[in-house]
Amino acid sequence: MLGQISREQDLLRGPRHVAIIMDGNGRWAKARGLKRSEGHVQGYLNLREVLRYAVEFGVEVLTVYAFSTENWHRPQDEVDALMELVVTAVHAQTPELISEGVRLRTIGDLSRLPDRAREALLGVIEQTAHNTRINLVLALSYSSRDEITRAVRALSTQVASSALSPEDITEEHISRLLDTADLPELDLMIRTGGERRISNYLLWQGAYAELYFSDAYWPDFGREDLRMAILDYNERERRWGKTSEQVQALSEEE
Ligand code: IPE
Ligand code: IPE
Ligand code: MG
Repeated sequence: MLGQISREQDLLRGPRHVAIIMDGNGRWAKARGLKRSEGHVQGYLNLREVLRYAVEFGVEVLTVYAFSTENWHRPQDEVDALMELVVTAVHAQTPELISEGVRLRTIGDLSRLPDRAREALLGVIEQTAHNTRINLVLALSYSSRDEITRAVRALSTQVASSALSPEDITEEHISRLLDTADLPELDLMIRTGGERRISNYLLWQGAYAELYFSDAYWPDFGREDLRMAILDYNERERRWGKTSEQVQALSEEE
């Protein structure tokens, strides 16, 4: 029992910034003889739940992969259904996001989204801008390579105009030009749906993130699954290239 309590206390010292690759909606639907788009609806409903558990577990930023740049190549009817779901979800959720203190943000290239979806998102981003309880970051039309390419383009413009010289470019310059510029360091990346890959998600930001893979399809990923992922994270030692002894000495200094 005491052990149980100390594990629960550990949970409170969990990751600040958690990213989730919400994978497995299509297989969840297929297993039930439903259309893939119905799996996405269920996935959206589950995100509402998981957001509440993330608040409960003290997560400050939850960054979820909702639609990748590569997902534009899916069948048009599936892409259309997902974009419609963005509009419906934003309209349905806005009052609750406001009342629950959730700040909604996005990463990715919103310019590729249909106008209706982009406008709905920009509206809720503005309406929740002062909320502080948790940040929900939706990765939409996002991929790391696309994000880094856009950052390199912006940096090249500064160099071309002589505002910056190449030898002065630091990692900090690059970080500041990424879509995640004002988010804290990524601590934990979870992928549901059984695959063990990153699929172009937060490659720069995840350099030292802990990885956790769950076999649950996203619509089935629940409170207990998130709790297990966070407990697993808490038991790991993050070393950032240092030795275990160095890391322990540093944490004793704190
Ligand atoms: C993830 O679920 C959601 C999106 C990519 C939009 P999938 O649609 O990839 O589900 P599976 O992997 O086919 O089961
Ligand atoms: C990653 O899932 C993207 C999202 C969850 C939005 P995918 O289903 O697109 O990834 P792959 O194709 O299996 O790598
Ligand atoms: Mg998938």
